[in-house]
Formats: sequence, structure tokens, C-alpha cells
Amino acid sequence: MKMRKGIILAGGSGTRLYPITMAVSKQLLPVFDKPMIYYPLSVLMLSGIREIAVITTPEDQAQFRRLLSDGAQWGLKFTYIVQPKPEGLAQAYLLAEEFLDGAPSAMVLGDNLFFGHGLPALLQSADTSNAGGTVFGYRVADPERYGVVDFAVDGTVRRIVEKPDVAPSPYAVTGLYFLDGSAPDRARAVTPSARGELEIVSVLDSYLEDGDLRVEQMGRGYAWLDTGTHSSLLDAGNFVRTLSERQGQQIGSPDEIAHEQGWIDDIALLQRAGMFGKNAYGGYLNALIEQA
Ligand code: DAU
Repeated sequence: MKMRKGIILAGGSGTRLYPITMAVSKQLLPVFDKPMIYYPLSVLMLSGIREIAVITTPEDQAQFRRLLSDGAQWGLKFTYIVQPKPEGLAQAYLLAEEFLDGAPSAMVLGDNLFFGHGLPALLQSADTSNAGGTVFGYRVADPERYGVVDFAVDGTVRRIVEKPDVAPSPYAVTGLYFLDGSAPDRARAVTPSARGELEIVSVLDSYLEDGDLRVEQMGRGYAWLDTGTHSSLLDAGNFVRTLSERQGQQIGSPDEIAHEQGWIDDIALLQRAGMFGKNAYGGYLNALIEQA
């Protein structure tokens, strides 16, 4: 069995956040004290994944490389892949097919933020289910904006529908997809939707038809935050600020997680801390060693 690999999908046009995203990729924008992509990256790291493809637009790749480099600073290995045009989430599996080389994957959208007690256990359990796919259903007030789970009366999942006019349930499917090695083949069979995209829900439906998709509930104790509008972006930043300042603990720090996972040693962490000078993030990383 091959090790699961990660994909961070960080392309797209970002038009909903114009003019902010006219010159900079959405996934590089700050969410309080860190670039947005640190948060989904942390989710893959908490799942135990170390080989990760970062998919970006052609114009933005250089900036992602500047921020993330080759990943060695966190004991990771990044592969950069370009998505020439935003032709849909499912296209990621075609672009990453060679990188995946038959391995199972966890794809996370570069603008999705997750937080919650028990998240590492939830992720690790998804990681250990090798065959088929696992996605997460999260109750939201406005499901029509997302892929929505359509449950049959007996509670089994009938379909997942993308942005329905009338939502069949309040459960949105989050932007985190644990799929087995058949994902690229399934993505190849997808035809563009009315909005001209290769939809991720079509790939999920293909798993469903084979009885191979698990929809795990991500309960109310979790936060799944959106950064799709100016207000929700600010809300996400305030959420991170409120919690991290109250607890004195970082949310979504790849440096802390890499150290915690044993992928980098104390010296490497201190080196990283040194890069941040005297700011609070650097101070936090230093304290992880000093207080240990
Ligand atoms: O956030 C979860 C939702 O993400 C799911 O519930 C939906 O089923 C799924 O389709 C997706 O919906 P969105 O409307 O949020 O997708 P959006 O087009 O905004 O793309 C999500 C992110 O992926 C965004 O940061 C840009 C990036 N992206 C998008 C497309 C279409 C790409 O990198 N390439 C693309 O081709």
C-alpha cells in the first residue's frame, strides 16, 4: 500500500475578493498572523502527510515557492504544479496524476480553515481507510453555497449536489477530500458542468455509485471557516486571533506541527524561530523549546 499524498489546490481567479486579489493570490492573503495556505497545509500535516503537491495559477507559483520553498524546513516535500485555467476542482486529480503515481490522496482547498478538538484523530482515521473515499459533512446556515449532502430516509447518502437552488439538507461537504488511488481515473470520466467546470461532486458521485464513499460528520465542536467574501475573510482572521490570544497557542502553525510530529528537531525549529526576529510568532516557536 502506497503512502497517502497531499494536494493543496490553491489556484482559481479569486474574483470574489477583487480588488485585493488582482495582484496577489487569495491563498497568500493573511488570516490574522499567517498566510491563508498555512491553515490547510497544517491539516494535511496533522493527517501525517509529508509529500504534497501545491497547485497554483502560472502567475502565482513563484510567490508560493518563495513562501513555502521545497518543504524541507518542515520535513516535507513539495511538488509545484500549475493549473493553467481554473477549470474545476476535479481537474486537480488530472494535473496531479503523475505526482500521485497511484497513491491515495488527501486534497484540501487552499482557502479552507478547520479547527477543533479531536481534529487530528478525525484526520488520522480518514487516512487509515485505504479503499474508497472519505469526505466531511458540516452543518451550515447557507448550504446552497456549497456541495450539499442529499440523504435518503434511512440516513444513507444518495447524492452530493453542487450549489442546489434548494438544499436537500443543511450539510455542506467541506473542501477536504480523502480519496483512494482511483481518483484520477474517475476525474477523467467527468464532463464539464453547466458552469464549465470539472466538478468535484461528480468524482464523489462516482465513488457513491460504487458504494465507496464515507461521509463523516464534522460535528458542532469544530469550526470550518470560509474565506470566500471580504467579511468571512475578516471573520476567519478574528476567529484565529481570538482563540490564539486567549489560549496562548498557535492555530495552523506548520512549524509547531512539524516539530510535534518529530519531522524537524529542536535546532531546526530554533532556526525557523530566528527567521521571525522578535515578533510574536518567532517568540512562540522559541518558547516551545524553552518550556519543553
Ligand atoms: O469550500 C467547499 C466547497 O468548495 C465545496 O462544498 C464545493 O462542493 C466545491 O465545489 C467548492 O465550492 P466553491 O464554490 O467554494 O469553489 P470555488 O470555485 O470557490 O473554489 C474553491 C477553491 O479552489 C478556491 O480557493 C479556488 C480554488 N480553485 C477553484 C477552481 C474552480 C482552483 O484552484 N482551481 C479551480 O479550477
